[in-house]
Order: sequence, then C-alpha cells, then structure tokens
Amino acid sequence: MRKIILLGYMGCGKSTVAKTLSKNTGIPFVDLDQYIEQKTKLTINAIFEQRGEIYFRNLEHLAFVELLNSPDRLIIGLGGGTPCYANNHELLIGENISSIYLKASIETLFNRLSLNKSKRPLIAEKSEEELKEFIAMHLFERSFYYNQAQYKVSVDDKTIDETVVDIVAVLA
Ligand code: S3P
Repeated sequence: MRKIILLGYMGCGKSTVAKTLSKNTGIPFVDLDQYIEQKTKLTINAIFEQRGEIYFRNLEHLAFVELLNSPDRLIIGLGGGTPCYANNHELLIGENISSIYLKASIETLFNRLSLNKSKRPLIAEKSEEELKEFIAMHLFERSFYYNQAQYKVSVDDKTIDETVVDIVAVLA
C-alpha cells in the first residue's frame, strides 16, 4: 500500500505537518523517531548516549524498512538524518512511494531549533552562535540526500495548514 514520506532537516515541521496531513486525509501517521523509541523503550537521547550514533543509524534504517514493508497505507515522518545514512535515500523513490522534502531556510530552522534543541542530541549542547553555523554546514552536506525526494514543498513563512494544502496539491 502507498506510503507518503515526509523528510527534511530537524525543525522543518515534519511531525506537526504529518499530523495535520493525517487528520485531513485519514491516512495514519507514524513518526520514525517515536516508533524507534517505542520499540527500544529508550528515548533518542538515551540511545545516542548509551549506544552511540552508529547504533542509532542502524536501528533507524531497520525501522524505516519495516514501516515501508508494512501492508498499511501510511504517512511516515522521518528523522532529520534518515535519508543521509545506510542508503536510505534510495528508498525515497519506488512503486507506491511518494516522498516530500519539507524545505526550510537556515533562518527558519535556526529560529525554531534555538527554542527547541534539548531533545535533539546533535544540537543540544550548542550555543546560539555554534547552532547557526552548524545548521548552515549540516544542511549543505545533507541537501544532496534531501533532494532525492520526489517532491519539494517550501515551509518558510507558511502555516501548517498552508503547507498541508501544498502537499495535497503535489500529491494529487
Ligand atoms: C536527527 C534528527 C532527529 C532524530 C535524531 C537525529 C538528525 O529527528 O532522528 O536526533 O540526524 O538530524 P528530528 O528531525 O525529528 O528532530
């Protein structure tokens, strides 16, 4: 059954947008980070701390493949790094898959993430100044992978509802 995959950098709004998209379309939503947390009974922070990032990337890949292979229609919200590891970007295109990159500017990401970084191990300890520099570099490195998505929707200066309307339009 068809899978709709939402991807993009931390703070681009994948989970919030996916929840509204799910409500409007009736297609169930699974957040990949939450799915991993439920399966391992550990928070993402704890997995990074106790087992390290490579262990997390492996779990993330397995969980992503598991959801893609499930028989259900699903909206899957990826983690910000999912497309960038374990060749997961190759899974963004295929039969019954629609992948959408929620594209946000460095400015938008910085404004959102500076308020909301404690649950994100990659940025939790960064100062304001370090954070902006980090986002700029990291986004640059990751863009190749994000751009493998079939569709791109810009989220800058848009409400959640406006973003969802744009997603529904590209999927039509
Ligand atoms: C990560 C993003 C996080 C989470 C983990 C690593 C990343 O997800 O998967 O902290 O590498 O960008 P969100 O994008 O939902 O914050």
